[in-house]
Amino acid sequence: MTEQDFIPSSYAHTLTQGTVSFQSPSNIALVKYWGKYGEQLPKNASISFTLSACHTKTSLHFEPKTSDGFEFQVFLDGNREAGFEPKIQKFFERIETYIPFLKDYSFRIETSNSFPHSSGIASSASGMSALAMCLMQMERQMTPMEDAFFKKKASFLARLGSGSASRSIEGPLVVWGTHQAIEGSSNLFGVPYAYEVHANFRDYQDVILLVDKGEKQVSSTVGHNLMHSHPFAVQRFQQANNQLEALMPVLKSGDLDAFIEIVEAEALSLHAMMMTSTPNYILMKPNTLQIIERIRNFRLQTGSKVCFTLDAGANVHVLFPKSEKDQVLQFITSELVSFCKNGEYIADQTGLGAIHVSENQ
Ligand code: PMV
Repeated sequence: MTEQDFIPSSYAHTLTQGTVSFQSPSNIALVKYWGKYGEQLPKNASISFTLSACHTKTSLHFEPKTSDGFEFQVFLDGNREAGFEPKIQKFFERIETYIPFLKDYSFRIETSNSFPHSSGIASSASGMSALAMCLMQMERQMTPMEDAFFKKKASFLARLGSGSASRSIEGPLVVWGTHQAIEGSSNLFGVPYAYEVHANFRDYQDVILLVDKGEKQVSSTVGHNLMHSHPFAVQRFQQANNQLEALMPVLKSGDLDAFIEIVEAEALSLHAMMMTSTPNYILMKPNTLQIIERIRNFRLQTGSKVCFTLDAGANVHVLFPKSEKDQVLQFITSELVSFCKNGEYIADQTGLGAIHVSENQ
């Protein structure tokens, strides 16, 4: 498919005023996307677990208008959040070609996150995917379409808001980025991982340890851009594509030791890119390293298959099979929670992606 396939030719109906609502989860990458080109296109393929407890719920109210330009207001937990509006403006500009009715309506975007706003958990993946689903729901009311196309285009739009958001539409495993080993994979949108996955990975657990809840000193946008002039960029993109290919037989066989090796290497490679860019920077905190060390010791002492991954921040995602839930939660509360800001963490697990919610809720 190409970008052209997402440009609608005409609509069968127009809409009067109404509301559409979706809930969409966050996701955590196992093989990381870091570096992009063109309009939000990834330099390598990535794969993530879709989460479930960490989600954004968005209601999009629309009303026809005749004035020029985009018209919208954003509300977070019922309060106007003008700080989000430049990002939405940019998103609307990027997707206007594909959603040509954007200037025909005045929008009120009401959004709320299941996780604390200041938790340091990026709401861009869940937020952008929820908004993309709402816009697609409007489009679907104007013109009939297949469910598969609906989801592909929702992912395509979400990607234009935030790259990793393309992986939040479906679950539990989604690949984004063209990879020769994954049929149907594309730089334009995420696709559900359609190969065999061992029962070990069913309901995989992710406990997010909130180490640092502040604003990141360096945004992901700046970090992606630094990959343009990075001395190890080419090797990194190759490494990620190789790791994705190496993960496929691991997902099939359920080999948790091999899974741990790939997932932890990916987390550290991502941060190694930050630490070796120009300028360089460090997003991990001393407590991030404390946690990593304790996870590795715990594994050595007990034979547990718990491991860690990181996104572009100091928080640690603790991943483990559901069969180890009691034992690992016990370890987290006794040994790791003391490294979290105010002892806070979020217990999550894999999920199935965005869901339509009743407009009256
Ligand atoms: O979607 P962005 O532009 O915020 O980039 C996110 C990149 C990582 O979270 C660090 C990795 C990934 O693949 O999700």
